[in-house]
Amino acid sequence: MNYWHNKRILVTGGTGFLGSVLVSKLAGQGASAVITPGSNQYDLRESEDVERMFKESRPDLVFHLAAVVGGIGANRSNPGKLFYDNAIMGIQVIEHARRACVGKTLIVGTICSYPKYTSIPFRESEFWDGYPEETNAAYGLAKKMLLVQAQAYRQQYGMDIINVLPVNLYGPGDNFDLESSHVIPALIRKYVEARDSSASEVTLWGTGKATREFLYVDDAAEAILLAMGKYDSPDPVNLGSGEEVSIRDLSLMIGNAVGFSGHSLWDTSKPDGQPRRNLDTTKAREEFGFVSSVSLSVGLDRTIEWYIDNRHAIK
Ligand SMILES: NC(=O)c1ccc[n+]([C@@H]2O[C@H](COP(=O)([O-])OP(=O)(O)OC[C@H]3O[C@@H](n4cnc5c(N)ncnc54)[C@H](OP(=O)(O)O)[C@@H]3O)[C@@H](O)[C@H]2O)c1
Repeated sequence: MNYWHNKRILVTGGTGFLGSVLVSKLAGQGASAVITPGSNQYDLRESEDVERMFKESRPDLVFHLAAVVGGIGANRSNPGKLFYDNAIMGIQVIEHARRACVGKTLIVGTICSYPKYTSIPFRESEFWDGYPEETNAAYGLAKKMLLVQAQAYRQQYGMDIINVLPVNLYGPGDNFDLESSHVIPALIRKYVEARDSSASEVTLWGTGKATREFLYVDDAAEAILLAMGKYDSPDPVNLGSGEEVSIRDLSLMIGNAVGFSGHSLWDTSKPDGQPRRNLDTTKAREEFGFVSSVSLSVGLDRTIEWYIDNRHAIK
């Protein structure tokens, strides 16, 4: 019998970028219901809404993905909102999942919770060894408190709850709004618009020297499903591709793929964010058999194609 058979599955944030891919992978798996409420149905910052959501959906499994997220700019402009919304939503979802005796709960954390200076590659064993990078500390720490809550609830109440830590995600359906987007959609949009207007220059944030690792959204959803089905431990698990790239090299890959022939200027008055990001992905492979399957160049091509096909409908 497959793991999902006859289960009622609640995906908070199921209408979002990662959530919608996760939900499409759950379709046809034999679950008796996959419930994906948006914030217009239940505002998870409101405890009455969270209580009502659990009462009405009666889930056996909960994936908690709902969050307020964004790139460095959004994190710098809204640290209070990112802290409060992410903390309060997670705290209430975990508490109500406990009260509702949910069979298993998975919390999607973030590698923004890692210390600013962590040895490369980031290992789960060093997760608590320092304060996060300042621009994303409010977001990263709000999410880190959910790990504390999950571990405390597992210890005191025997709750079956796990935490995964995805690296930066990208892919078709990402947020391309320059006010709040992450680096890959922002670069794609800037280069496509520059190409189309025959601009000779594009100005990018920071020095370009920081490095990042990226996980294609389909891979991330696959990893989350594997973790729900197979992982059972209080310790968090990194989800990544293991492929580190500098922002400068990333910009060259995207500029070339898009066909932009001008120059990139680096606005060094803007922050780089965390200096390096590269994950040790051993644990996800050993514990639940996850290995990413989409390389950065293939994933970028798919994402660029999606953006070009859909940009007329994007703000
Ligand atoms: N994107 C990344 O690079 C990345 C990297 C690491 C971890 N993560 C984590 O992955 C998860 C999904 O991220 P994403 O990029 O898919 O985010 P997203 O596209 O911005 O989606 C956010 C989701 O959260 C819901 N939400 C926000 N505020 C809510 C509220 N007050 N009440 C109820 N629902 C609310 C939204 O619902 P509505 O649209 O209906 O408001 C939406 O479905 C998050 O937990 C995030 O921290 C993301």
